[in-house]
Amino acid sequence: MSGSLRRGSYNSALLRATAELLPEGMTLDIVTLDDIPLYNEDLLSEAGFPESVQRLRAQIAAADALLIVTPEYNHSIPGVLKNAIDWASRPPEMPFAGKPAAIMGAATGMMGTVRAQQHLRQILTMLNVHVLNKPEVLVAQSREKFDADGQLVDANTRKFVALLLQNLGDWTHVIQRQEAAPTALVR
Ligand SMILES: Cc1cc2nc3c(=O)[nH]c(=O)nc-3n(C[C@H](O)[C@H](O)[C@H](O)COP(=O)(O)O)c2cc1C
Repeated sequence: MSGSLRRGSYNSALLRATAELLPEGMTLDIVTLDDIPLYNEDLLSEAGFPESVQRLRAQIAAADALLIVTPEYNHSIPGVLKNAIDWASRPPEMPFAGKPAAIMGAATGMMGTVRAQQHLRQILTMLNVHVLNKPEVLVAQSREKFDADGQLVDANTRKFVALLLQNLGDWTHVIQRQEAAPTALVR
């Protein structure tokens, strides 16, 4: 998922670029957040969560691993992303729990979302998501890394994204073995 809703988003372009860099055997399903309402328990009905939230939760639950691409807004993650995570964090099913994940982000400034990614890691720890540590994909000065059509054209960034995906695949196997073991951590 990408934490930006705008059409020309560098973060959504970064997410789309992963489709070209996936290792063999890995597939990408993009989750959209534009129809997720603001978190409000009054929206819960007898049918449960709002339909768009149910879809989001089901997509997270079905994924072997998660890839979250976040912009940085005022040194943190955008409300759009936090809101979606909050909806998906609620019981009863806890779709995030125990999932392997990788994060990355693109910013127009020099810092490449490093502060937002630190906040995102902190949030995901609460949800018992197992976030990959390396490589850190911090796409700084994003205007120079994408062409006018939103294609990721920076060779170095493509190399880091490909490594992140490779490591996420390996990490997913490690976590799956751990979760299947009798000593798996309490959720
Ligand atoms: C409300 C807001 C706050 C922002 N705060 C930061 C920030 O703290 N650090 C940063 O590097 N960029 C910041 N930016 C600039 C974003 O990096 C830039 O708009 C980026 O393109 C957003 O991601 P997107 O292209 O995927 O929409 C901010 C942008 C907005 C709209």
